[in-house]
Amino acid sequence: MTVAPLVSDLDPFAAEVMANPYPVYAELLESDQPVYLPRRDMWVVTGHDDVRAAVKDHERFSSADGIAYDRSRLPILFGVDPPDHTRLRKLISRDFTPRTVQSWRPLVEQICTELMDAAIAAGEVDLVREVLVPLPVRVIAALLGIPGDDVAQFKKWSEGVIEGFNANARLRPETGHGPADPEDAARRQQAAKLALKAVSNISVYFHTLLDERRSQPLGTDLISRLLAANSDHLRDNELVWLCLALLVGGNETTTHLLGNLCIALLEHPDQHRLVRSRPELMGPAIEETLRYDPPVQSVFRSARTDVEIGSTVIPAGSRVQLSFAAANRDPRHYADPDRFWIERQTDSSHLSFGSGIHFCIGAPLVRIEAETFLRQLFERTEGMEPAGEFTRIKSPTFRGIAQLPLHLTPRA
Ligand code: HEM
Repeated sequence: MTVAPLVSDLDPFAAEVMANPYPVYAELLESDQPVYLPRRDMWVVTGHDDVRAAVKDHERFSSADGIAYDRSRLPILFGVDPPDHTRLRKLISRDFTPRTVQSWRPLVEQICTELMDAAIAAGEVDLVREVLVPLPVRVIAALLGIPGDDVAQFKKWSEGVIEGFNANARLRPETGHGPADPEDAARRQQAAKLALKAVSNISVYFHTLLDERRSQPLGTDLISRLLAANSDHLRDNELVWLCLALLVGGNETTTHLLGNLCIALLEHPDQHRLVRSRPELMGPAIEETLRYDPPVQSVFRSARTDVEIGSTVIPAGSRVQLSFAAANRDPRHYADPDRFWIERQTDSSHLSFGSGIHFCIGAPLVRIEAETFLRQLFERTEGMEPAGEFTRIKSPTFRGIAQLPLHLTPRA
């Protein structure tokens, strides 16, 4: 039996909510049903089982309008449905097998060592700027075979794409609910322009790189391997979008995980002491951070048909937010969900890497990066003390740290 949909005036993207969205999600979770939010003209799904089922149901919940709040249609891996998705993912997943990813460990170790050397020598650092931002950028750039001199530019473009999406979602949509801000339409256009400009710069860069690679004997970097394995005759454009997916998918997200991990440890000194004294808990600490404070808070889908969840029907064409942040704190799934508790044995039951056909291809790499960083932090420092206030990024769908001033005390 279906009943009238639940409607809520809550807005998880409002500026005052962004700093701590969890109370809003807790309120939405009370209903155990999808809820319609007129202020954003979107539905939000929060229950753990419902989010997992929806994210796996790519036939009814399409990614083709993009996975950010705005409906920006780009042919990037996470923004396409089968059959195109199947074709593209096959080509790239060959290089993300557990064995291949393990072979990248020494590279991650070397880059992390260089960054930590400098940070520890400085004593007082903004850890985000000195380690957490450059670590994933340099790793992904090295894997793709991007020349070192281009890495800084590369990072700026990646930030441009993400900031374009963020800026768009921060603005109020034209739903007719609540006071309209006449300047929002102009800001929205500006945000879209920003993202497109960054995408076009990256695209030109990768096209040139593909041409260069072809003119030389192929190496072992990911771009050379994509060219060598391209038996499905993907067009250059599609190869460029694959590179872009790795760049945009793997940068900010990893930085945010590492930042959220540091903050969770600083805010829970007992858990910090525990994991420092028992290194076998580093893996569980990383998984618990992913559950407790996911870097990707939610993804969006468009309902292709009317979809029934519980006793609610989400109408065809609706924009639907699948909230990992809420699902990971569903009290029906996790005891004491708001507690950061490393020994809870979260395993990988959290949804922070998604599920189904779009499951994060970079998840094994992220785990190596996070573990390497944490091990070096524990083995090479006595501790970390705040050297000022930390600040959070302002994003409705990503969660991470913008600045983290710390004193690092080197181990004797
Ligand atoms: C903590 C870090 C990361 C988090 C939290 C994260 C999260 C996610 C999530 C939630 C999805 C699914 C999106 C959806 O269902 O619409 C996804 C997909 C994806 N991620 Fe990650 N990611 C991380 C790091 C990485 C890294 C390091 C890479 C690349 C090396 C990467 C590459 C991708 C790609 C290419 C996809 C699209 C897969 C597909 O559509 O088939 N991610 N990620």
